[in-house]
Amino acid sequence: MIQYVAISDAEPVASRSGAIKLHGPGAFEGMRRAGRAAAEVLDALVPHVVPGVTTQQIDDVVHAEMKARGGLPATLGYRGFTGSCCTSINHVVCHGIPGERVLKDGDIVNIDVTIILDGWHGDTSRMFLVGDVPIRARRLVDITYECMMLGIAQARPGNHLGDIGHAIQTHAERHRYGVVRDFCGHGLGRVFHDAPEVVHAGRPGTGPELKPGMFFTIEPMINIGKPGVKVLEDGWTAVTRDRTLSAQFEHAVGITEEGCEIFTKSPAGLDKPPYA
Ligand code: MF3
Ligand code: CO
Ligand code: CO
Repeated sequence: MIQYVAISDAEPVASRSGAIKLHGPGAFEGMRRAGRAAAEVLDALVPHVVPGVTTQQIDDVVHAEMKARGGLPATLGYRGFTGSCCTSINHVVCHGIPGERVLKDGDIVNIDVTIILDGWHGDTSRMFLVGDVPIRARRLVDITYECMMLGIAQARPGNHLGDIGHAIQTHAERHRYGVVRDFCGHGLGRVFHDAPEVVHAGRPGTGPELKPGMFFTIEPMINIGKPGVKVLEDGWTAVTRDRTLSAQFEHAVGITEEGCEIFTKSPAGLDKPPYA
C-alpha cells in the first residue's frame, strides 16, 4: 500500500516516514535554489576536470564552491563518507571516493554533488570527458544522457514510476547496454534519501503513481556490459563486475500539474559534454 502525505511549507521536521511527500510552493522554491546551486557547482568544475588533476583537487573545488553559495556538502560524513562529492571513473559505477587518483587522458568520470542549501538538497551529477576520449566511451555517455532525459520525459501526473524505468531500460537495451539495478534514484527534499525508490528499469503502469508535489531524482547508471556491480573493500566504491565502462547522469525533479520541473539544469547550458 503506497502512502502519500501532504507537506505544508511550514513543516519544520525532515521526517523519513516511508510515505511519499507531496510538497507545496515554498518547497519548490527551496529546491529551485538548491538545485540551481548544485548545477552551478558542476558548471564551475569544467575547467578543473583535465588530465593531471587528482580527484581530491576536484573535491576541494566542490567544497569551496558549495561554501561560496552558502551551502554544505550533504555527502561529507554521510554514513562515514569522506568526500564533498563522488568521483566515479571509467568502470566505477558510483560512490567513488575522492583521493589521490590522477585523472588521465581518455578517462570518463562522473562527478556527483549534493548541496544542502537552507535545508534543501540539490543532488545532481554529470559525466566529464578527460582529454581525448575514445568514441566507444563517448557513445556510452551520450546514450546515458538520453536515457535520463527520456526518463524525465515520462515524469508527469498520472504516469507511474515504472513508466520512467521502462523508458530508460528500453533505450539502454536498444544499444545493448546494461541498466544497473543495485542503485536507484530517490525522493529528496529536506531529506537526502527519501521514499520513493526510483528504479531505472521496469514495466509501464507499475509502481507508485506520480502526483504533483513529488520530488525525486532520476540517475540511471548504464554499463557497456552486464548490469552486475560489486562494492570494493572500502565499503563504497561500486564497480562493474565485468569491468566494462559505466556512465551516469542525475537530475532532481519536482512533479507539477503539467509535467515536471528540473531543479538541477545547468544555468550555463553545460548539461552534457562536450563542454568546450
Ligand atoms: N549523491 C548520491 C546520490 O545521488 C549519493 C552519494 S552518498 C555518498 O544519491 F555517501 F556516497 F556520498
Ligand atoms: Co541522488
Ligand atoms: Co547524486
